[in-house]
Amino acid sequence: MAQYQFQVVYFEATRRCNLRCPFCMTGSNNAKKVRRSVLRELTLEEIRDQMLLPARRLGVHTIGWSGGEFLLRKDALDLLRLTVDLGYKCSVLSNCKKLTRPRLEKIRDVTQGQARIVVGLNAIDEENRWSRDNESDRTLQVLKDCIELGLGQHVVITIGKYNAKSFEKTIEFVVKHNIAYNRSPLVPRGSGSKCFGEMGFDRNDLQQYFHPALRRNPHGYVSYTPFFLSPELHAQVSGGMRNNTVPQNPAIGCWAGTWLTVNAEGEVSVCPVLLDALSAGNVRDTPLDELVDSSALFADITDRSRLKGRCGRCRYQYTCGGCRAMAYFHTGDYMEEDPTCFFDPADASTVSEHEEETNRVFKKYLLIARAAGVYQPPKDERTEKTPRRGLYAR
Ligand SMILES: C[S@@+](CC[C@H](N)C(=O)[O-])C[C@H]1O[C@@H](n2cnc3c(N)ncnc32)[C@H](O)[C@@H]1O
Ligand code: SF4
Ligand code: SF4
Repeated sequence: MAQYQFQVVYFEATRRCNLRCPFCMTGSNNAKKVRRSVLRELTLEEIRDQMLLPARRLGVHTIGWSGGEFLLRKDALDLLRLTVDLGYKCSVLSNCKKLTRPRLEKIRDVTQGQARIVVGLNAIDEENRWSRDNESDRTLQVLKDCIELGLGQHVVITIGKYNAKSFEKTIEFVVKHNIAYNRSPLVPRGSGSKCFGEMGFDRNDLQQYFHPALRRNPHGYVSYTPFFLSPELHAQVSGGMRNNTVPQNPAIGCWAGTWLTVNAEGEVSVCPVLLDALSAGNVRDTPLDELVDSSALFADITDRSRLKGRCGRCRYQYTCGGCRAMAYFHTGDYMEEDPTCFFDPADASTVSEHEEETNRVFKKYLLIARAAGVYQPPKDERTEKTPRRGLYAR
């Protein structure tokens, strides 16, 4: 039995792309970088033997296929079929350019309906154009097609100064269509380094624009920071499931320590935005499960008692953990406090004014998470049965 248990592998299967988004973290708009990478991309056999088979021993249930543009791999459909044959669910992260209706039908067929399409939508109007090399209309059409074809959907909103003011409107749209979403912080990875100084959000943007919208909407509770959830409430609803000190069932706050991320050349990290920056090793050299079990990076990241500064003395150290990427890119130390957090706890007894609202909305999120298969209520100790409603629905 492996030392750790993870739920998701996020894999950037290629750096090739058919768009040129200006801040692309995989450097897919950098021809030299892409050319060098193509020669070292993991093959289907390596992916199967070094990543997918070992991931089963780590408890993983979902593989997220990303890039670059994953659908540019000639073996993309074979990989999706293999994923499902091995018993995984899969997500396909795509820029939508190749997601015609026949292609979506094909994805649905090879995955036996087990796929979820994940699209980037940073604004629903012209602001999208600044950050993504496509029109939001195309993305909206794909979301509509997915609904009609019975494919799951998920939206990623990459946040920075450029979409602070339109964020609430984007969320309203996504929620109106009952779609789950998560925010991804703009980082100086790859081509993101060119605009991070100017466009990276600060604690004021987070407090004034992003956080109020995030904490009001259960569809976004999948992952964001600061996450002011009572640690007692999480322990109660999760049945105490965690990876050392990182909460699972459901994963919340910072996901570092609950998922595994791998780049096109096989390097493993703790979050997609930290790939190329922090590596635990390469799956070409060591199978994924062995690599993670012997990694100092994973030992650190799954032990939140090692966090420093405000995150080190915070009541929400467990349920939030602070964005490890923001800590790393702003300070150079991934265990430092998250400098974009606007909470200033004196010690672990300081309660956030947003805790009550977070707890209330989180209970609604549990219903969404349960329906999506990423949350399982603990069994009643007396009857050994899973409660149908109970605490989670109140
Ligand atoms: C790298 S893309 C790959 C999948 C697909 N090609 C797409 O465009 O959605 C995955 C996600 O990363 C986000 N992303 C790209 N560059 C980023 C950066 N510098 N910082 C944070 N997120 C970034 C994108 O907005 C997108 O939602
Ligand atoms: S480091 Fe944590 S909070 Fe930050 S983007 Fe990654 S998973 Fe999310
Ligand atoms: S201080 Fe750190 S752990 Fe506490 S709420 Fe802020 S980011 Fe989260």
